[in-house]
Amino acid sequence: MATILGIESSCDETSAAICIDGEMQSNSIANQLVHQNFGGVVPELASRAHQQNIIPVVQQALSVAKVHKNAIDAVAFTRGPGLLGSLLVGTSFAKAFALANNIPLIEVNHMQAHILAHFIEDPKPKFPFLCLTVSGGHTQIVLVRDYFDMEVVGQTTDDAAGEAFDKTAKILNLPYPGGPLVDKYAKQGNHLAYKFPEPQIPGLDFSFSGLKTSILYFIRDNVAANPDFIESNLADICASVQHRIITILLNKLAKAAKQFGIKEIAIAGGVSANSGLRDMLAQTAEQYSWNIYVPRFEYCTDNAAMIAIAGYYKFLKKDFVGQDVAPLARMIM
Ligand code: KG4
Ligand code: ZN
Repeated sequence: MATILGIESSCDETSAAICIDGEMQSNSIANQLVHQNFGGVVPELASRAHQQNIIPVVQQALSVAKVHKNAIDAVAFTRGPGLLGSLLVGTSFAKAFALANNIPLIEVNHMQAHILAHFIEDPKPKFPFLCLTVSGGHTQIVLVRDYFDMEVVGQTTDDAAGEAFDKTAKILNLPYPGGPLVDKYAKQGNHLAYKFPEPQIPGLDFSFSGLKTSILYFIRDNVAANPDFIESNLADICASVQHRIITILLNKLAKAAKQFGIKEIAIAGGVSANSGLRDMLAQTAEQYSWNIYVPRFEYCTDNAAMIAIAGYYKFLKKDFVGQDVAPLARMIM
């Protein structure tokens, strides 16, 4: 029997989860609304909120799972990548918890964990598979050979896909984080209303900064001619921008699938919650006979269940770290 406590605190979500023998028993998340007034995550406020939230969130995860803290066999935590002050809170908590309960400590890479979220529930992808990991900080195509044998084969050269959504929302005067709102308005809009350029980046890499600039100029010029342009056309603008972001992502994913001869295709990270991306992935899968894997919504955005499941697979290998471990703002796979 292995009971794992997972801790996630890399950005603005404080989360704790309990996993018993690979089965998730709880996944508690405290969101930080404090950042909404600032149009983005304020690192200092994030770490303060993590400090306030971490103990109640862990208590909630234990109580939902009906597990006593003495029954935990190991504690897994996000070591990086992320905001250093935020990571420090989760790391310090995990180290103290492991020391006090005399149990092993397991470090987890946040980006690997987004991918391993596919192993929380069935159906699970078969190795090797390709995973498009799209979040607020990352846009990667990863060749996953085994649980911890992952290679980034394509990535963004500037903004992440989530940033493209959030910056679009900001230009449209929508509150942070704008990704889910763009998704919501896009559902009522026509994605062919406006055409935005597709960047010409070689290989499997991505670029979103040119798109951001073209949206900025497009809105500036149209608002100059008609001050109500955004309000009158919000749904069509959101649908058109979202469609371009999705086609950029899926065209590269299709290129990677062809290049590696792989038909097991997964998506992960906060942007994989996007309904347009999910729909178009399903259509693309039909076209190329892919088997696709999309995690449940709560396992797409930042959560500790993905840290606990990654911790479980490391526990099986006895892959532990010492009390001298420190968080890493930049952590490669
Ligand atoms: O993985 P995540 O929760 O945190 C990071 O590790 O970054 O991803 C957050 C990102 C944000 O940019 C947010 O706007 C975006 O995911 N996001 C969405 C949707 N839900 C979250 N973007 C588009 N459509 C959504 N439904
Ligand atoms: Zn994330």
